[in-house]
Amino acid sequence: MAYNLLKGKRGIITGALDENSIAWKVAEKAHEEGATFVLTNAPIAMRMGEINKLAEKTNSQIIPADATSIDDLTNLYTQAQEVLGGKIDFVLHSIGMSVNIRKKIPYTESNYEYFAKGIDVSAMSLHKMLAVAKKLDAINEGGSVVALTYMAAQRTYPFYTDMADIKAMLESIARSFGYHYGLEKKVRINTVSQSPTKTTAGTGIKGFGDFYDFADKIAPLGNADAESCADYCITLFSDLTRMVTMQNLFHDGGYSSTGVSMDVMTAIGAGEEG
Ligand code: NAI
Repeated sequence: MAYNLLKGKRGIITGALDENSIAWKVAEKAHEEGATFVLTNAPIAMRMGEINKLAEKTNSQIIPADATSIDDLTNLYTQAQEVLGGKIDFVLHSIGMSVNIRKKIPYTESNYEYFAKGIDVSAMSLHKMLAVAKKLDAINEGGSVVALTYMAAQRTYPFYTDMADIKAMLESIARSFGYHYGLEKKVRINTVSQSPTKTTAGTGIKGFGDFYDFADKIAPLGNADAESCADYCITLFSDLTRMVTMQNLFHDGGYSSTGVSMDVMTAIGAGEEG
């Protein structure tokens, strides 16, 4: 059911690779809620051409941009404002990539070139997206920026390797930039800390399948799926959350507040009384 929560709002949505992507669902929901937006992704990610289907479905244009390139980002904001006919009201940062994870390199043996690449793509890109927007004054007062993150920023998950540190940095950038952009232009910046989700980035992590099931058994509501994550992002783009900024918001079915569940106790054979 749509509520017209984003009627008249203009956005930029990064990271829709295929229909499993969280960003894909956000784009579908934003369209349903009355927003107009441009889609963007790294030029190399567009080779498969999947994003064209989403663009057609949501009546939106695609502007390729590598989120690590200031030139690409400057072009993205400039063109997006032209295409959409005004300043931007919401931005989704849905970008994550670790070469160390891709190559299954253990955390303690991290390759530092890959580590630096991961930081640039997955965390510093948020700073760059915000800095370029601020310089161009491309985001409207009260605008909202959401970046997706994972709880490995707070607690250790061995298989998440360098992305844990990178997500901690991402969340810190959201807070730090949120202060400055909020003070100056009332632009809001939050991170949404999402459950494990079956996407290209998610399933690329070693042991993801087993961990997905574990998290599902811990969370009283079960794992949150990509579609419900999209719903949550829509509320954060809407004016209903106009005083929410600089927060890391868990969207995980209660996982982060649960120590252990009876399901998991039973599974390890410790669920019986006494
Ligand atoms: P996905 O693989 O569909 O999306 C990742 C996107 O990042 C892709 O579209 C990819 O092309 C884009 N990207 C990579 N390098 C880029 C660059 N240089 N410039 C621009 N875009 C680039 O996977 P998913 O899961 O939808 O990931 C979206 C976000 O959600 C990521 O930040 C991820 O860490 C986060 N997240 C995912 C979870 C999961 O279990 N899938 C859980 C919690 C957070």
